[in-house]
Amino acid sequence: MFFLFYNMLLQIKVYLITVIYFFGVLFVILFPPRNYDLSGAKMRTVRSLGDNLKFSEYITHKALFEQAKRLVHEDKEIARVIELKPITFENRTIIALELQSDKQSKKPGILIIGGLNGMAWGTPNAILELADKLLYDTNYQTPFFNDYNWYLIPMGNPDGLHFTQRHRDRSPMNADMWSQNVTARNGSRPTLWYKNVDREDDKEPCFGTNVNRNFAYHWQDDVRKTPVRCSQFYPGTAPFSTKEAQAIRTYVDELGDRIHLALHLQASFVPRKEFILYPWRYSTRAPSNYRILQDIGEYAARHARLPDGRLYEVHQSSNDQRVAGSLSDYLSGVVGVDLVFLIKPYHDPYPVHTNISALEIYVKKSVNTILSIVRGWRSSTKQNTLSFFGKDVEF
Ligand SMILES: *[C@@H]1O[C@H](CO)[C@@H](O)[C@H](O)[C@H]1NC(C)=O
Ligand SMILES: *[C@@H]1O[C@H](CO)[C@@H](O)[C@H](O)[C@H]1NC(C)=O
Ligand SMILES: *[C@@H]1O[C@H](CO)[C@@H](O)[C@H](O)[C@H]1NC(C)=O
Ligand SMILES: *[C@@H]1O[C@H](CO)[C@@H](O)[C@H](O)[C@H]1NC(C)=O
Repeated sequence: MFFLFYNMLLQIKVYLITVIYFFGVLFVILFPPRNYDLSGAKMRTVRSLGDNLKFSEYITHKALFEQAKRLVHEDKEIARVIELKPITFENRTIIALELQSDKQSKKPGILIIGGLNGMAWGTPNAILELADKLLYDTNYQTPFFNDYNWYLIPMGNPDGLHFTQRHRDRSPMNADMWSQNVTARNGSRPTLWYKNVDREDDKEPCFGTNVNRNFAYHWQDDVRKTPVRCSQFYPGTAPFSTKEAQAIRTYVDELGDRIHLALHLQASFVPRKEFILYPWRYSTRAPSNYRILQDIGEYAARHARLPDGRLYEVHQSSNDQRVAGSLSDYLSGVVGVDLVFLIKPYHDPYPVHTNISALEIYVKKSVNTILSIVRGWRSSTKQNTLSFFGKDVEF
């Protein structure tokens, strides 16, 4: 009697377990884990730490080419160098570095562009250092390298950077005077140079266009009077008059909706004024998703605290000043990227080029800020996070 009863219980138990399993499987099929389609096959064997490139000087265009080639040499499946067209006024090629952990799965794309400002010497270093960490440092595999496709343009204005670096040892002279007076400029350098070096007319003393005012989204919509030819903010004769803006436009237009997050790494040349900004720049009108942008920016600011304990200032970029024709507005307004940020960590103007610690500080801040924005984005979409009793845990 007892045995029969026991046997019956056992059978019920077996049925129960079968049913529970069935519903479990059904549940997983009906409601796949949020990030199932993103995680993809981890085809690539994770490399050990070490083999770290050390960029011990402000990188030149030539060195950037060599380093990028070296990065991709080892594994063509995961890293590629794209040469953008057209070449610049002084015949330099702008390159994009693409990192993909595997080609099988579709992943959100992150675009990072730097070096548009002729004085932001450390930007290419920062982006190259990031690429190196993503590729070789095990600490950056998950959640950063494996979960996204990375599109990097380390040096968007090689002519401008070359120009300022070539003249770094000359005595400084007021930029306006330098621009206007060819006799006076002999042997000196301008105190500021934000532009490239293109010329519209050989006889004109002034040259150079501000690439970050040359994009076709509400171009020249911020001011009634066009900045003069000599100004550091000269926006060009027309949108996309510069080769740099043309090359970047062709590349980002083609990427299109593969980009989910776009970051423009800039520099602030004013001490203790460091920013994480988002569109719009040309207008004080708020973007429709400004709440998300502000939250991600604040998250990043908290997680990328500045070395002296300060926080980045986070707000819409037009709060300070309206600026039209910039890259970030183009990425948001024309390419249609939802999440666009402009990052401005402090950078010495014409830094002492042998002072590596100043370079290291800028690079570290930049890499940290970029990754904190990515983390802020993940946390805002709850990618790869589970809530345990109200606390978000990333896995
Ligand atoms: C760029 O290349 C063109 C064509 O080869 C040449 O005419 C021009 O002088 C070059 N410019 C510079 C700055 O090297
Ligand atoms: C340019 O600078 C030179 C030397 O400093 C000066 O003699 C000359 O008057 C200046 N020219 C103009 C147009 O300001
Ligand atoms: C520039 O200055 C040097 C000496 O400092 C002089 O030899 C040269 O002729 C000057 N060039 C011009 C264009 O004034
Ligand atoms: C190098 O840069 C650091 C950071 O900006 C600064 O504190 C230091 O004084 C600089 N050293 C020299 C020799 O310029």
